[in-house]
Amino acid sequence: MAETLSLIRPDDWHVHLRDGDALAAVVPHTAAQFARAVVMPNLKPPVTTTAQALAYKQRIQAALPAGSLFQPLMTLYLTDHTPADEIHRAHDSGVVAVKLYPAGATTNSHAGVTAIKHTFKALEAMQALGMLLLVHGEVTSRDIDLFDREAVFIDKHLVPLRRDFPQLNIVFEHITTREAAQYVAQAGAHTAATITAHHLLFNRNALFLGGVRPHYYCLPVLKREIHRQALLQAAASGSNRFFLGTDSAPHATHLKEHASGCAGCYTALSALELYAQAFDSVNALDKLEGFASFHGPDFYGLPRNTERVVLKRQSWTLPESLPLGEASIKPLCGGETLAWQLQSN
Ligand code: DOR
Ligand code: ZN
Repeated sequence: MAETLSLIRPDDWHVHLRDGDALAAVVPHTAAQFARAVVMPNLKPPVTTTAQALAYKQRIQAALPAGSLFQPLMTLYLTDHTPADEIHRAHDSGVVAVKLYPAGATTNSHAGVTAIKHTFKALEAMQALGMLLLVHGEVTSRDIDLFDREAVFIDKHLVPLRRDFPQLNIVFEHITTREAAQYVAQAGAHTAATITAHHLLFNRNALFLGGVRPHYYCLPVLKREIHRQALLQAAASGSNRFFLGTDSAPHATHLKEHASGCAGCYTALSALELYAQAFDSVNALDKLEGFASFHGPDFYGLPRNTERVVLKRQSWTLPESLPLGEASIKPLCGGETLAWQLQSN
């Protein structure tokens, strides 16, 4: 049984860092684990322009612990009105990707896309430039069951999008179903997916064990066990089309433990430990480095990291609660014992 695991330092290809006090509270956690992270643009107001993305990048850098070499990779929030020249400006300024939120699908998505055809000019520019499209893949119609929204999105939107833009590099973000894993596995070299640690570790029963457990509520919502098994199989398959994206999404405790609690699991503090636990559960620790450290940069066309990190099999207890500005935040699995621990360096 492996007792230590040495990996090229991983990157997080999907994280929410927020802004202001929350940013200051959470960015040290991501920076302690990862060399780089793709930062989601669903702020209030959303990051829809290059100028906003660059200003946000500076705020992230200013919030980093002294001496940190962590690099935020910036994204734009796609709207029905994003012009092609904004895509060119973003690309010229080092913005790595554009995020498609179907309007109303999740946190701060009301300014998102109402119909993909409205974004064709932007998508054409992205395809020509080789800029990535990151997709929150859920339909929003109220008549579609919440648990089916991802599978329906594939047939209704992703298949046509793939056909209309065959060279566009698409990341199907935080996939949660067997249908999504199967779709990505056969969709060709321009399609990949991120998978969160919580979707690898938990099925939808976690939401209701002993009562409603709001800290397990995220979007897309946790699914049945057969889906969790399919995700584990995809992540541990060694396929370079699946890679790490935590979707760590901080919300203050009082807004999670609420009559209509916010969606999002906070995993940044122990992300690699949680992924190690998931891979260990299927005896696939040897596949963790590809998933966490190689497949992401390869798909994004960025250099792999060279520095290493070490995970040790050693139990430790995650704090139950942490400060989040004047509020507090509960990490997922807070108060529980984890089997692996990242060694500080
Ligand atoms: O659970 C989620 N939280 N899913 C998302 O898509 C957004 C995120 C957030 O920003 O809180
Ligand atoms: Zn997200």
